[in-house]
Parts: sequence; structure tokens; C-alpha cells
Amino acid sequence: MGTDAAPVAEQVDVAALLADPYDTYDRLRELGPVVRVPAVNRYLVTGSAACRAVEADEVTFSADVRGGSATMARALGQRPMLRKDGAEHAAERTPINTPLRPKAVRAAWRAQFERNTRAHLETLRERGPDADLNRDFAGPLAAQNLVDMLGLPEATADELARWSLAFIAGIGNLQDDPEVWARSDDAQQEVDAHLEALIPALRRRPDASLTSALVHAGLDDATVRTDVKLIISGGMNEPAHTITAIVWALSDHPDQRDRVLADPAWWPRVVDETVRWQSPIGMYPRRTTRDCVLAGVALPAEAPLGVVVAAANRDPAAFDHPERFDITRGRRAHLGFGSGVHVCAGHWAARVAIGEVAMPLLYGALPGLRTDPDREAPWSGWVFRGLTALPVTF
Ligand code: HEM
Repeated sequence: MGTDAAPVAEQVDVAALLADPYDTYDRLRELGPVVRVPAVNRYLVTGSAACRAVEADEVTFSADVRGGSATMARALGQRPMLRKDGAEHAAERTPINTPLRPKAVRAAWRAQFERNTRAHLETLRERGPDADLNRDFAGPLAAQNLVDMLGLPEATADELARWSLAFIAGIGNLQDDPEVWARSDDAQQEVDAHLEALIPALRRRPDASLTSALVHAGLDDATVRTDVKLIISGGMNEPAHTITAIVWALSDHPDQRDRVLADPAWWPRVVDETVRWQSPIGMYPRRTTRDCVLAGVALPAEAPLGVVVAAANRDPAAFDHPERFDITRGRRAHLGFGSGVHVCAGHWAARVAIGEVAMPLLYGALPGLRTDPDREAPWSGWVFRGLTALPVTF
């Protein structure tokens, strides 16, 4: 294969990307798997094979991105595992892999996920005709599940949700807005106040929580605190967006809803097909450490890349009719949880909490659950994407 300069996509409208990025993704992919997009100041990688190639080589494609690492360090106290490479990353990532294996997740948290789901089902039911699945069920459930996985005994789901949003806003605060920093600073202080007593207690008596795994990995307290904040910022919105996207998709595809309601063994496929089709994390950044060639395209050192997994998940070279929601498609792996060393640490936890617990209980209790055609269900975002509200009837 020869080496070419990256095609340039001059006509990319950021407002259109935020509203619905999928047409733009198709257009970019037709130009090539790696395209320079001046409107977002990056090379966007939209081909499935090209995204995988990035994640297979962390020496050339670093997660320690310029600008992004600085805002993340400012928002979370210091640079977390997500912005580290090689041994530095592995020292923080390896300890949480053990409690996040499927068996360990089921043993430690499945019963708790069930209790949380039942409690929020009640909230949803009580809302009756005003019910919003995002506000009344998916959001608070995802927050409570994360409180339990982190083992924060005094924290509430409301607090965790507030911290999560404050950290996410800080991580994205490239404009240096002081009000955004003030909110993420407050959230940091509040999380630190919880951890001040918890970390020494866990040093004496380990438990099954993610915080305990970090504490017993030989990391200093500041590193533990930052990675707890990373998990708070990364482990809430995506499961919530997946739950609402599933109900939205099944409402629109009643034949597939009937199939899964008749046979719950389909639920895991529903979760993964939804994460492929409407990826909650659409894009994440990388930086080239040297001149290199990616999918036949020459890239200079220090090039900012966006790995657009949402576009890769609709790549026709990887999936037949990728624009269709189809739970029966083959088990070809999607990129909605990323790949390579930074592959989502919580992907099994998400699959268990959603596919094994939340969805079967939700539809078991409310088999007539559907999106409400009379109220709006707004989608928003491309870097992170999800339904900001999902009015439902049941
Ligand atoms: C459906 C739900 C979820 C989706 C779609 C998702 C997606 C992702 C993706 C795409 C990445 C890679 C980002 C990158 O490389 O820049 C990631 C990383 C990560 N996720 Fe998730 N995630 C989900 C749920 C969770 C949950 C529930 C947790 C916590 C228990 C979690 C914790 C993490 C952590 C700690 C990382 C960083 C891993 C590292 O740097 O090695 N995620 N996630």
C-alpha cells in the first residue's frame, strides 16, 4: 500500500455533529479511514481497522494527549490512568481488572444491582404519565450502582451524579472557564472528604470494592483519589445512556422487543448491539509520538487524533448494513468499549448491571414499556452521545 497525505474535510459543521453525527461520519469514512478535520482541529479516524491499529500500538499512539491531559489533571487532581501509557498505566489499571472480571462482578455486586434496580423501578412507576426513563430510572440507577462498586458507604447517588457531571465539565474545560473549575474543585474536595477516612480504613480491612483494589495496589493516596474520580466521571453516563438507548431502540423495533421478551437469553446481544449502534462514547483522543503511517495515511509527530469508535461501529467493511439495529447480527466485536490497553475497565460490570439485571427486571415489571410518542426524546452530543430525556409510557 502506498502512503498518502490525509484527505482534508473542510465542510464539517460542529453543530450538525452534535445534533446527529452519523451522516458526517459516513461522509468522512468515504473520504478515507483517516481524515484531517480543521473544524475540530484533529485527524479523525473513522475506519474500524484503523481504530484497532491505533489501539494496538500505544508507543506510537499515546493516550497522554496535549491539552486534554492538562484539563483532566486539573479536574481530577492529577493525570489518571486513562491519560497514561505503558508501565505507568498498567500499575493503575491492572489492580482493578481482578474485581471487574465477570465472576467477581456477579459475586460482589449482582445482588446490590438487583436491589438498586427494584428501588428505582418504584420511582419510575410512581411517576406514571410523567415518567422519564433517564431522570427517574437510568441515571439514578447507574449512579447508585457506581457508589456500590466504589464502596463509598456515606455517598448518595445524587452526590455521585453531581460529582460526575462536574468532573466531565472540567475534563472538557479547554476554554478555562473559572466557574467550571470551581465546580470540579468543589467536587474534588467532597470526594476527598469521603476518601480521607475510607482509605485508611480499607488499608486495615480490605473489601471487594474498586477503591479497595486501588488502595492495595501499592499506589500512593493521591493516585488512588484521582483514579476514583476518573471512575466517577466515566462510569455513570454511559450505562445510563445505554439503558435509555435500549428502550428507544426496542420501541422502534417491536419484532426484536418481542424476541427478547420471549427469551431473555437475548439480553446480552441487545446490550452489545445498542452500544455498537448508538455508541455512548463516540470519540476519544490520542497523540502521535512520531512520524508514522496509519491505514496508508502519513501522519506527522504530535498529531492530535480522534478515534471515532461510533463511526468505526458503522463501518460497512466491518458490519453488514451497519445502520440497522439488529440483535441477530453475528458476534463480530464492536469498538463501543474501546480496544487495546485502555479498553473499558467496566465493560463486564456494565453488561451484568444492564443486560443481566436492569433490563430483564425493567421489562419483567413493565412489559408494555415504550417511548411516549407525544413527548420529545432528544439525542445530544458526538464525543459523548445519549438521550438527555426519554419520556416513556407503560
Ligand atoms: C455501557 C457503558 C460503558 C461504555 C460504553 C464505556 C466505554 C468506555 C470506553 C470507549 C473507554 C475507552 C476510552 C479511551 O480509551 O479513551 C472506557 C474506559 C474506561 N471505562 Fe468505561 N464504559 C462504560 C461503563 C463503565 C463503567 C460502569 C465503569 C466503572 C466501573 C467504567 C470505567 C472505565 C475506566 C476506569 C476506563 C479507563 C480504562 C483505562 O484507561 O485503562 N466504564 N470506557
